[in-house]
Amino acid sequence: MAHSLLILPGDGIGPEVMAEVRKVIAWFDRAGLAFEIEEDLVGGAAYDAHGTPLTDATMARAQAADAVLLGAVGGPRYDALDFSVKPERGLLRLRKEMDLFANLRPAQCFDALADFSSLKREVVAGLDIMIVRELTSGIYFGEPRGIFTEGGERVGINTQRYTEGEIDRVARVAFELARRRNNKVCSMEKANVMESGVLWREVVQAVHDRNYGDVELTHMYADAGAMQLCRWPKQFDVIVTDNLFGDLLSDAAAMLTGSLGMLPSASLGARQAKGRPKALYEPVHGSAPDIAGQGKANPIACILSFAMALRYSFDAGEAADRLEAAVERVLADGLRTADLLGPAGGTAASTAEMGDAVVAALDAA
Ligand code: IPM
Ligand code: MG
Repeated sequence: MAHSLLILPGDGIGPEVMAEVRKVIAWFDRAGLAFEIEEDLVGGAAYDAHGTPLTDATMARAQAADAVLLGAVGGPRYDALDFSVKPERGLLRLRKEMDLFANLRPAQCFDALADFSSLKREVVAGLDIMIVRELTSGIYFGEPRGIFTEGGERVGINTQRYTEGEIDRVARVAFELARRRNNKVCSMEKANVMESGVLWREVVQAVHDRNYGDVELTHMYADAGAMQLCRWPKQFDVIVTDNLFGDLLSDAAAMLTGSLGMLPSASLGARQAKGRPKALYEPVHGSAPDIAGQGKANPIACILSFAMALRYSFDAGEAADRLEAAVERVLADGLRTADLLGPAGGTAASTAEMGDAVVAALDAA
């Protein structure tokens, strides 16, 4: 039976990097993994066509697909739009309505790129951590929110809100992942200043004590966690944290690996009848409007996001390993998109040349 995949290239560099992923998907299709692909609009592209960053029809297609692969959303052209129709709302609606509460953001430092990180080689070489970011609650969605007028001046309000159930379910995902890795979870919040952080810490600890006593659990304030991520990131295995802290910490973790252009992500919901979670895969980088359309974008984050889809949605772990190995080989050979060309040298490649090289490496394996 063919795997159904909804592709939403979106804005900025989204369509460029997605074109390279399609070459990779076509390769696996030829190799016998059958895909049924649909493509649709999201973000600014959907706003331009339909006046909304995500139509109900696209939402329904996303709900029905085995997996969704998204490029990026947003751009300066849309800055002045009302909040309710900004490109980002399209992505947030997908996450919320598909109930994709667990966002997996692995930060792995490929050996070939260890000199490229802004941190010293010994700090990042061999790094392999997983950030699990809660994705459907917290300050991104809490009510009340808005800009109101109070006592003659405006006040901007957002609300950090977490239920026990929301913390419980994302903590479980982190512990389950840790068991298949190095068996360590570090939970990050600001329990020193936020009640939601106090509850977060209590619930994560309770989930641990009840069901995951075999996993090593530590707690850290998120600010200290950010500092430790830069000081000695290899102390971590799995980090579990809320929506906003996860947004910040995962961008920081991305730079450990050399470039934001390298980081994939998977956003997963609860398991469904077929045993698979609802799922959306996307690179952590954004739409990068400053380099869009110039062949400078690094397609690897999006290609590795497809590798995560192979692993988590399509039961094709071996295919995922093979794709990740192909990417590693291309980097080891010295091929570099603009974001990775630096003092350490390398051979310059356009977005398309990088995609072609990954396909060639798949052929060679
Ligand atoms: C991310 C992005 C998004 C977020 C934006 C585009 C809404 O920064 O996925 O990390 O803030 O979650
Ligand atoms: Mg972000």
